[in-house]
Amino acid sequence: MKKVSTLPRNHRPLWSGLGVHFAPEYAGNSNKPLHPTFNRRAAVKSGLAWLKLQRKYTIMKNTIKLPVPRKDLEFPLMKALEKRRTKRKWKDDSLSNQELSNLLWAACGITKAETKRSKSKRTTPSASNSQAIKIYVAMKKGLFLYDEKKHQMILILSKDIRENIGTQKMMRSAPVGLIYVSDYSKFKMYIAKNDNQKWFVSGTDTGFISQNVYLYCAAANLCTVILGLVDRDKLHKIMGLKEDEKVVYTQVVGKSLDET
Ligand SMILES: Cc1cc2nc3c(=O)[nH]c(=O)nc-3n(C[C@H](O)[C@H](O)[C@H](O)COP(=O)(O)O)c2cc1C
Repeated sequence: MKKVSTLPRNHRPLWSGLGVHFAPEYAGNSNKPLHPTFNRRAAVKSGLAWLKLQRKYTIMKNTIKLPVPRKDLEFPLMKALEKRRTKRKWKDDSLSNQELSNLLWAACGITKAETKRSKSKRTTPSASNSQAIKIYVAMKKGLFLYDEKKHQMILILSKDIRENIGTQKMMRSAPVGLIYVSDYSKFKMYIAKNDNQKWFVSGTDTGFISQNVYLYCAAANLCTVILGLVDRDKLHKIMGLKEDEKVVYTQVVGKSLDET
């Protein structure tokens, strides 16, 4: 039988609408009749609302929504090409969210949204538009995955794994470590038939991304190094990657020591 409270709203006990088992005298005793003020529909409704809020909060807590990338940044392309350099020293400062936003968008941000007929396009080319390279971002506050579709970073590990970014000691101090991971499951058969071909295409696709990062860094006065000296197996384990996800290269980024 449906029980509806006859008490005015402000006289109902606190647990009214939350479920009879929350009422102290009913706690844990399912044989007792329902509390006279129990309203099942309200209970379900408030429970669902609470769950929805909880889920939204968890997603927000584990995601960094990046600001819109500054596409109006002015720096001549030819100058960026000239200034592009591998620099192995940086300030002990983290990058701002705006810098991360620009950097990740330059690396593989979306430049054409997907439609019903075609896949999205990125700032960098990829074999048959497979978009197999994912970018993980290692920072002091944890390891994140760049979700280019929503231009946000999703928390993967609440752990600083930067000491594994490269085997050279100096690389551990970089504020940002980009980890380029190839998802082999995204390659169609005609692009890469075996692991050798998949590895080759992964290296090529990563090269384009890395060069975009180099050029953005040149234009934004940041320092960067692409790293081949990486213990890939160790990183793979630490990051909890799947069998067909492979660490290709890593790339460190930091703020320049000089202002120009
Ligand atoms: C595929 C690749 C792997 C590299 N790996 C490393 C590395 O592990 N450590 C490092 O300090 N530099 C690394 N570099 C950077 C090169 O040493 C650097 O590009 C080269 O000395 C030329 O300097 P430049 O980039 O300033 O023109 C790598 C470069 C490439 C293209």
